[in-house]
Amino acid sequence: MTDTLPAHTTTRSDETWWRQASVYQIYPRSFADANGDGIGDLPGITERVLYLASLGIEAVWLSPFYPSALADGGYDVDDYRDVDPRLGTLDDFDAMVSALHAAGIRVIVDIVPNHTSDRHAWFRQALASPAGSPERDRYVFRDGTGEHGEQAPADWVSIFGGPAWTAVGDGQWYLHSFATEQPDLNWANREVRDDFLHTLRFWSDRGVDGFRIDVAHGLSKDLGDVLPTWAELSAMPKDGSHPLWDRDDVHEIYAEWRQVFDEYTPARTAVAEAWVAADRRARYASAEGLGQAFNFDLLEADFDAGAFRSIIEFNLGLAEQSGSSTTWVFSNHDVVRHATRYALPPRTGDEKQGGAWLLAGGSQDVLDQQLGLRRARAATMLELALPGSAYLYQGEELGLQEVGDIPDAERQDPAFFRNPGVDVGRDGCRVPLPWTRSGPSFGFGTGGAHLPQPAWFGDCSVEAEDTDPGSTLNLYRKALGLRGQLQSEEHLEWLETGRDDVLAFRRPNGWTSVTVFTDVPYDLPAGELLLASAPVADGALTGVGTVWLRA
Ligand code: GLC
Ligand code: CA
Repeated sequence: MTDTLPAHTTTRSDETWWRQASVYQIYPRSFADANGDGIGDLPGITERVLYLASLGIEAVWLSPFYPSALADGGYDVDDYRDVDPRLGTLDDFDAMVSALHAAGIRVIVDIVPNHTSDRHAWFRQALASPAGSPERDRYVFRDGTGEHGEQAPADWVSIFGGPAWTAVGDGQWYLHSFATEQPDLNWANREVRDDFLHTLRFWSDRGVDGFRIDVAHGLSKDLGDVLPTWAELSAMPKDGSHPLWDRDDVHEIYAEWRQVFDEYTPARTAVAEAWVAADRRARYASAEGLGQAFNFDLLEADFDAGAFRSIIEFNLGLAEQSGSSTTWVFSNHDVVRHATRYALPPRTGDEKQGGAWLLAGGSQDVLDQQLGLRRARAATMLELALPGSAYLYQGEELGLQEVGDIPDAERQDPAFFRNPGVDVGRDGCRVPLPWTRSGPSFGFGTGGAHLPQPAWFGDCSVEAEDTDPGSTLNLYRKALGLRGQLQSEEHLEWLETGRDDVLAFRRPNGWTSVTVFTDVPYDLPAGELLLASAPVADGALTGVGTVWLRA
């Protein structure tokens, strides 16, 4: 493995580093396990800093590492200002941040403000206190219906399936938009607001550079005195006045957060995870608010030139409106990996990509893995040439496929347990990474892996790919390295390609990217060939792939 650090294009004092950063998402409990208990940990990340540096990324984003029962993989937080003892200590956190910073890598942590876990001190206090108490006011409690409150206040369904209200035994019920273990907070409560300002300062003071805000479109709620039915709720427009989602007044919260971010030099950054209509995204990305928002449009699209082009044009336009930069994502811890989505037969309807395949057993045999990987490599190179930030997910640099056939008995995701026969859940993209060709848990740790790794993982391991010049790992390294050198102003100019299955664009400094979406060879325009995701012969890209040229 390489033992030198690549040059970085920004300095730590740069206020605009986030605008075009490549950010690598670490799902800590599945990254590397330093103490051999089967769960990835913070020292495991610190031990792999050279690997992260060898990728040429500018920042890491860590999914939650806070104390948690892991009812939702850590998105059920017991204490926002500590480290889960299974993942390390605050000292381990500080050591990790120092090591990453020394390697020129910034650190983004995940903030989960819509809900705490049911083990959070506040929720325990709420349960121990009577209806109408200040302790209950930090959450969303309502009286049940029926004579003794034995029926739920409303028939609402949680995002993971199953009821969204749970009884606490005294006639009251609490709202949980996600799992039962994730009670929603009441953001109308000043104490809740102040506590999160405290948390943002706590991590900022420890040197954290930015925050990823979970379910940023949740938080603010206005349920009124009479709760609507689920059918009524579902039919209400999400125009800023919906009782639960994407309310206009949620931005008052982020305006307060912005003041905290701006107390620091450089200002701390934030990116919103807000699953809202595209035309409402800009509010989250505004400079008075979080500053940037995820755009999941490419992640949700099929591998199709026309779809990609309109998504890119639309989002560059939105970014101009908000003054933010745009973001691109193909994979994260919530979706089927893109190498696998692109290996599946075409979708017939609107279903979630990979959903039907997972329900049918998730067999690798029905995938065209080779095609999926060629498309994924092409898509990533296209993404990395676009203006804006690119968010990459651990394992995609290895070309990893989704693990579709995890036995039911080993699944962990509440989406699986709460939605039998409808949703298989997200465990298949959370299987611990393979570091070595063989050995226990493929080098993840000495104590096994908390989700089963398939035999084929060894061939996609870091060890197997590190020295293979044609590997996906080395493609990512070269592409990220070049991106650092070639980065240009946040514009692109589309080039005429003469074909509707080919997209080509040029950045202001001449950096040109050409993507062929089918296996029909394509004669490349003139220019110095910098990198190709697929073979180039006689000046033509031979099939699905992306090439970068300097023109
Ligand atoms: C976000 C996270 C997801 C989590 C959910 C509830 O969507 O990305 O993993 O389950 O929020 O916190
Ligand atoms: Ca461990």
